[in-house]
Amino acid sequence: MTQVTNTVRFVLDGRIVEAQGARRTTTVLDYLRDQLHRTGTKEGCAEGDCGACVVMVGELNAAGTGVDYVATNACIQLLPSLDGKSVKTVESLKGADGSLHPVQEEMVKCHGSQCGFCTPGIVMSLVNLVQTNTTPARQEITDALSGNLCRCTGYVPIIDATLKACGQQAASESQAREKKAALKLDDSADLALLKEIKRASTPTMSLEGDIIVQPVVRTRKGNEFVSPATLAEVADYLVKHPTTTLLAGSTEIGLQVNKQFARPDHIMYLGNVKELRQVTETDKVWRIGAAVSLTQVEALVAKAYPDFTEVLRRFGSPPIRSTATLAGNIANGSPIGDSMPCLMALGAQLVLRRGEKTRSVSLDNFYTGMKQNVLAAGEFIEAVELPKPVAGQVFRAHKVSKRFEQDISATCAAISYTLKGGKLSGVKLAYNGLAPSPCRAPKLEAVLEGKAPADVKAADLDAAIAASFTARDGLRATWAYRALVARNLVLEFIEEQTSEVA
Ligand SMILES: Cc1cc2nc3c(=O)[nH]c(=O)nc-3n(C[C@H](O)[C@H](O)[C@H](O)COP(=O)(O)OP(=O)(O)OC[C@H]3O[C@@H](n4cnc5c(N)ncnc54)[C@H](O)[C@@H]3O)c2cc1C
Ligand code: FES
Ligand code: FES
Repeated sequence: MTQVTNTVRFVLDGRIVEAQGARRTTTVLDYLRDQLHRTGTKEGCAEGDCGACVVMVGELNAAGTGVDYVATNACIQLLPSLDGKSVKTVESLKGADGSLHPVQEEMVKCHGSQCGFCTPGIVMSLVNLVQTNTTPARQEITDALSGNLCRCTGYVPIIDATLKACGQQAASESQAREKKAALKLDDSADLALLKEIKRASTPTMSLEGDIIVQPVVRTRKGNEFVSPATLAEVADYLVKHPTTTLLAGSTEIGLQVNKQFARPDHIMYLGNVKELRQVTETDKVWRIGAAVSLTQVEALVAKAYPDFTEVLRRFGSPPIRSTATLAGNIANGSPIGDSMPCLMALGAQLVLRRGEKTRSVSLDNFYTGMKQNVLAAGEFIEAVELPKPVAGQVFRAHKVSKRFEQDISATCAAISYTLKGGKLSGVKLAYNGLAPSPCRAPKLEAVLEGKAPADVKAADLDAAIAASFTARDGLRATWAYRALVARNLVLEFIEEQTSEVA
């Protein structure tokens, strides 16, 4: 189906909304509040931190038989990226007879709301959770709420309300079953509409056989927001428009739009590109497409690299991780980016593409300075290749920050090694927060390589840290603190490992 230029189409509660003349950088939140008067969705921070703006965004599942939802921060998502999808706001929960969703009912009964400003966002995070998990453990509920700040109620009544809504304190099994059944949103009316507005899955071609990337939004000046379906379109468009801003999860770009008033001429959304949404594997590596969300990566590496999953569990919050990507984290290149130390210690390679040519670059060699990298004009990250664990490999990682979740690292360290004859071998150690970009630490690796863990001296690590990095106090930690943490993490990572891993 050919896309209608300048009209963003999405499904809202059993009807198709045609947002005409929307700007490239209009946020989902602004459109919902200003144009659709869905003012239940609040704006607190406009930077993805408070969760007052959480909504559920739905997509047809692969079989076309249902809708898969993710909770997202509407304040940092750009409206044109909604094209072809559906959205549920707190108003969507109201039954035809005016009834509340069970989560809302129990919030009322448990006194889970005081001023109420955070409540719609909290309710949407919880309703999203119970669509796929009707027996959440307390920990799963607190994880789901880690991106929702409530300054007055406190979380205990909110967690209790969720447990009750899920029938965990029901008088009988049949009552519990009834309660669980009532949690599911009735989106049957949305299904046919989602099929109707489904975006094209193949490129439009000119009579000469050239790819034409249809814009979702185009201005009279020729600026546009495009949302291609295939890798070929992405590569072709970027060669023709090399200054295009790539948009993956929008958790960096959304902030640039809201806080720095960035208005890129050309924006290309990668979230609909089939090849970039895939994870493929060989017996040695996972190839993670550039549009795969961190939520998916968290699940992918949970068994092989539990510490990596733990770092990701503390990365932002569920509504951030539901859209944010590894490629976006890497390309953004923040000195305190959290995925990079893990990926570097694990020997990740990047597949970079320009036009039809690809090259493989080790993540260790990607950065050339603070937020600088080796990407050429028109080149982009197609995939991240993550090696699978090998026999005997130890991988440890830990993020140090003031709060457990939804906080920025003072430093995050990751290490990989094997023990051979009781000696550390093949050591790869990487940090964020110590240098202008996340990086390996070869001088510390040299201190460790070939030594028995018990023979590694703290003083040698300290000397290697001093020789490797420029001492600099930062907003989040002094240099003295960072250096101490950097050394102690290494000692902890090797200390626990007293015997060879089978
Ligand atoms: C509330 C909040 C909490 C956060 N917490 C953390 C945290 O704990 N740890 C952390 O490290 N970060 C954190 N971030 C930062 C951000 O979420 C991450 O950097 C995220 O991985 C960015 O991915 P994205 O897909 O959203 O990128 P986007 O915002 O879509 O893009 C980011 C940059 O990457 C470029 N880009 C995207 N895809 C590609 C590609 N395929 N090829 C080349 N360039 C590309 C874009 O053009 C842009 O310059 C947080 C952000 C917010 C708002
Ligand atoms: S308004 Fe605070 S997260 Fe969106
Ligand atoms: S009820 Fe007031 S902020 Fe949560």
